[in-house]
Amino acid sequence: MLRSLQTRGYRSLREFRMKFGNITIVTGANGVGKSNVYRSLALVQRMAEGNFAASLAAEGGMPSALWAGERRRDEPKRISWDIEHDDFEFAIECGLIPLGPGSASMFRTDPEIKSESLRFAGKPMARRKGPVIEARGPDGVMEASSLPFHDPESMLCELRDGTRHPAVVAARETILGWRFYHHFRTDADSPIRRPQLGSWSPVLAHDGSNLAATLQTIVESGGGGVLHAAIESAFDEIRWSPADDTDAFHLQVTPPGLTRPMAAAELSDGTLRFFCLAAALLTPKPPALLVLNEPEASLHSGLIQPLADLIGHASKTTQLLVVTHSHDLAAAIRTIGEAVSVELVSHEGETRPKGLEGARRAWSFD
Ligand SMILES: Nc1ncnc2c1ncn2[C@@H]1O[C@H](COP(=O)(O)OP(=O)(O)OP(=O)(O)O)[C@@H](O)[C@H]1O
Ligand SMILES: [Mg+2]
Repeated sequence: MLRSLQTRGYRSLREFRMKFGNITIVTGANGVGKSNVYRSLALVQRMAEGNFAASLAAEGGMPSALWAGERRRDEPKRISWDIEHDDFEFAIECGLIPLGPGSASMFRTDPEIKSESLRFAGKPMARRKGPVIEARGPDGVMEASSLPFHDPESMLCELRDGTRHPAVVAARETILGWRFYHHFRTDADSPIRRPQLGSWSPVLAHDGSNLAATLQTIVESGGGGVLHAAIESAFDEIRWSPADDTDAFHLQVTPPGLTRPMAAAELSDGTLRFFCLAAALLTPKPPALLVLNEPEASLHSGLIQPLADLIGHASKTTQLLVVTHSHDLAAAIRTIGEAVSVELVSHEGETRPKGLEGARRAWSFD
């Protein structure tokens, strides 16, 4: 289980630390930094994939991602992450590429990784200073190896040999297994609205593109009862099916009073999103950690309780982090299971847990 995340210097997360429970709910007003928490954790997965530099570039590169507020004199222009998991602790710190003549790289908006460390079951297993990695080999001795001078990717994805570095590979696999969902596109061109050939799909794609196939996979995996009950509690008396009578998969919904099914292209945004959330939460292959960013977007208030029930059901097999605007959703989840709740506020541009606005260092709380 993921125990805590500490992020410093990333956007509004100047000095931010939070602990996680089996269900964790992050709430707060617009602009306080909820999505920054989501993005910060998602970036750890990008590191494990080897897509850290490209993902940072997609959000504007290091200069954009760095805390844009005032700094104390002892506060470097760095972004760092510290992750505590039951099995391992991973830390990484990165900064800007040095500029000027003799600069090592033209990729000036990439992160420059200053240091990393990985402890597994309490024991130091790998560390990095700049381009030099030291990792514990099969005989238990720390062995040094060098990366190219500018390598903005984490050692988590550089040390891939499971026979030499099983702890690094295990930590990497754990992080890769986390699942993130943020905003299912439902505009007219969204892939969710297009019929497609279906294949066995136990995991909903990030964009929901395999929605109909995932719904059918849930049914064929024995989850049909819970899925149908969830849809019934959300939408009175509708009938639905994941396919038409050709081989094409696309959600078909017949609301009461209509004489033909509405195709995915004709369904409302909220209807499609609720089906996506149901598919994500009832997956036959539950991830160790499922993170939902603002799942209530465009859902009617009547769908909040059915969504909370789905979250409660998923929490039996999965650790959940739910980032939400909705106090109603947070309250409904809290009635279902024990949840850690964190309300965020903005204090001089910095994201803080409510109640610790004035604390000198947000991360000193426990
Ligand atoms: N580099 C940066 N340094 C400091 N603050 C930043 C930086 N980049 C973005 N921000 C701040 O982060 C905030 C946006 O955070 P975020 O998107 O996480 O908000 P949110 O709580 O998810 O809001 P919403 O409820 O509207 O989705 C903005 O207020 C913006 O000023
Ligand atoms: Mg947001």
